[in-house]
Amino acid sequence: MGVAFHIWNPYCPAVCSCCLVAAGVSQCQLSGAWRILMSVEVRSATLGDVPEIVAVFRSNVRKWRTFAVLGRRYLPYERLTLLQRYRNGGPWMAPETCALHIQQVQASGNLALVAVHGGRVAGYSGLLFSHEPAPWGHNAKLDTIYVHKDLQRKIGAGTALIQTIEREARAAGCNILWAYKIARGAGPFYARCGFVPLLNQVRVTLRARQFPLSFDAEPLAHPPGYASDLPLVIGHYASSQWLWASPERWRVEARALPDVFQRTEPICFRLRITPASGDPPSDSSAYVYLIPEFRRGHASALAWTGSRDLLPTVQAIVTVARRMKFRKVHLLFQEADWLTIHEAFTPLKTRPNVPHFKQL
Ligand SMILES: CC(C)(COP(=O)(O)OP(=O)(O)OC[C@H]1O[C@@H](n2cnc3c(N)ncnc32)[C@H](O)[C@@H]1OP(=O)(O)O)[C@@H](O)C(=O)NCCC(=O)NCCS
Repeated sequence: MGVAFHIWNPYCPAVCSCCLVAAGVSQCQLSGAWRILMSVEVRSATLGDVPEIVAVFRSNVRKWRTFAVLGRRYLPYERLTLLQRYRNGGPWMAPETCALHIQQVQASGNLALVAVHGGRVAGYSGLLFSHEPAPWGHNAKLDTIYVHKDLQRKIGAGTALIQTIEREARAAGCNILWAYKIARGAGPFYARCGFVPLLNQVRVTLRARQFPLSFDAEPLAHPPGYASDLPLVIGHYASSQWLWASPERWRVEARALPDVFQRTEPICFRLRITPASGDPPSDSSAYVYLIPEFRRGHASALAWTGSRDLLPTVQAIVTVARRMKFRKVHLLFQEADWLTIHEAFTPLKTRPNVPHFKQL
């Protein structure tokens, strides 16, 4: 990979000659206004790009939180630990975690791309491929997209990244490109790129508690090979295939950077609900990951199951979480799924989320 192309004015009715000037700068007339157009190259990220990728992400953070319960709430970047940097926006916030993340993305057949302008990294985006049951099908998930603060809306780096991503996703046979959460302020950019909201999700926080239910939770040291026929029904915030492999990734990360990753190693098990006596055999077996969150006593859950009745699965997850001494469990549902079971729970919190999609 390594797609070099010239950005032209997307409003230009035809690719006019002034848009194709091979030198770095050209001008194009738009409704009487003159806009400067720059050349942007999009290519695979390398480890040599890491310091500049981190600079792109850092440029977008105004104040660095410490996440301290007591004491200073904000500190300069230089005084933060690796874990605090990570918590301010993910692995891209420090070279150590960023290098590891990019390696993990690329080693698993996914894409880490940079937009380069004037020989320097101006933007970064990741793309995660996944094959899943309908309606997701063969899909590509935008891992993230960031452009350096000083270059936003100046050189078309975001557009260049999305154009390359679309081309790569199409070439990989994907039907849809999607983004889980649209950051405040990025809505118009996604709309301009043709993304639309297609489904509603809801993030629910439940108290970990015992339900009177008979089930077997068999611990799994290693999840089996990816089951592309099982839908990811709880926790679909990233591509199913990427999340399925997360325990293996976490193990590598925890060995490389124990300060950041050891606390987040997931607990994996296969769940089998025992039908009540007299009930027909149930199809409600599920693969479940409980992922401890940074906040002590909190976990989030992922569940893959072919069962259409989610109630016993959720009750079992909450019960296992309680046995493992968690206090709160965060679960992300498709809104329609949550509505079928919500009466059985008293959520501590519910928050809507609307992923955005683009048909390819
Ligand atoms: C969102 C982001 C990636 C866009 O990248 P960019 O290089 O600035 O975008 P482009 O220059 O290619 O913008 C193309 C068009 O999208 C629209 N657009 C982009 N950012 C916009 C904004 N903040 N407000 C309104 N419209 C916007 C405009 O129509 C723009 O064309 P114009 O500048 O000629 O009017 C970039 O602003 C960014 O990194 N933001 C911070 C991080 C973030 O929120 N990422 C998204 C995570 S969901």
